[in-house]
Amino acid sequence: MNGRLEIQPTSADLVRKATECIASLLLESVKSRKLAMIALSGGTTPRSVYMLLGSEPMCSMIPWANVHLFWGDERCVPPDNAESNFRMVKEALLDKIAIPSTNIHRTKAEQNPAIAAQEYEEEIKQTFQLKGDALPRFDVILLGLGEDGHTASLFPGTTALQEQHKLVTEVYVEKLKAYRISMTLPLINNARHLLFLVSGKGKAGMLAEVLQSNDVKYPAQLVKPVSGDIRWLVDRNAASHLEAVNQP
Ligand code: 6PG
Repeated sequence: MNGRLEIQPTSADLVRKATECIASLLLESVKSRKLAMIALSGGTTPRSVYMLLGSEPMCSMIPWANVHLFWGDERCVPPDNAESNFRMVKEALLDKIAIPSTNIHRTKAEQNPAIAAQEYEEEIKQTFQLKGDALPRFDVILLGLGEDGHTASLFPGTTALQEQHKLVTEVYVEKLKAYRISMTLPLINNARHLLFLVSGKGKAGMLAEVLQSNDVKYPAQLVKPVSGDIRWLVDRNAASHLEAVNQP
């Protein structure tokens, strides 16, 4: 299995565990490197985690002035659109914390997808203040798992899966008839800490495939940290198809 698996009894336990884990990684990063660079995942699973991060007592524990928030992927819609991952995080977290606006790195996905991807890549490089082709190393990248095995916006069958040079790319998702902007595997796999959050029976079949199948068929199976670590924080429902796993 790729990485460490932690099964929480319920989705509420998963939210609590994920929030504690993220807070601890942010604090460790700030302590070691004065800054914490985190890429947030979208969709529905992490929303409750962001709400808990933005509530007391957790909120006051995190030095938000030293934390830079990015998005691992974004839908190509305006930031006030119901589909926007930025809007989801804004409502769940940003509107509740005192974080400098310069620490919030929104993907401007409402514009032309190729330009949005290029600009976001530039923003990441400038924030990390790297020279040349050095690869930015995020402290934490949160990831979700789609029922089709996608993660971030790296969907099955898209050319984004083969991207080895860009840090960020536009992705046309045929089944959604929509463009997305996504971090690419080289950037994701260069992170210090990769954290998958997976909840619910609907993900059980795919989670078992991704964690226990020897055939690499799904994008999530391509997430392999080069020198960091990867943790799968899941609830019992999502883990219900896993074989020979000691359930807590
Ligand atoms: C997005 C996400 C995506 C998500 C998975 C799981 O923009 O939708 O970044 O990769 O993590 O689709 O989504 P749920 O948590 O909604 O199941």
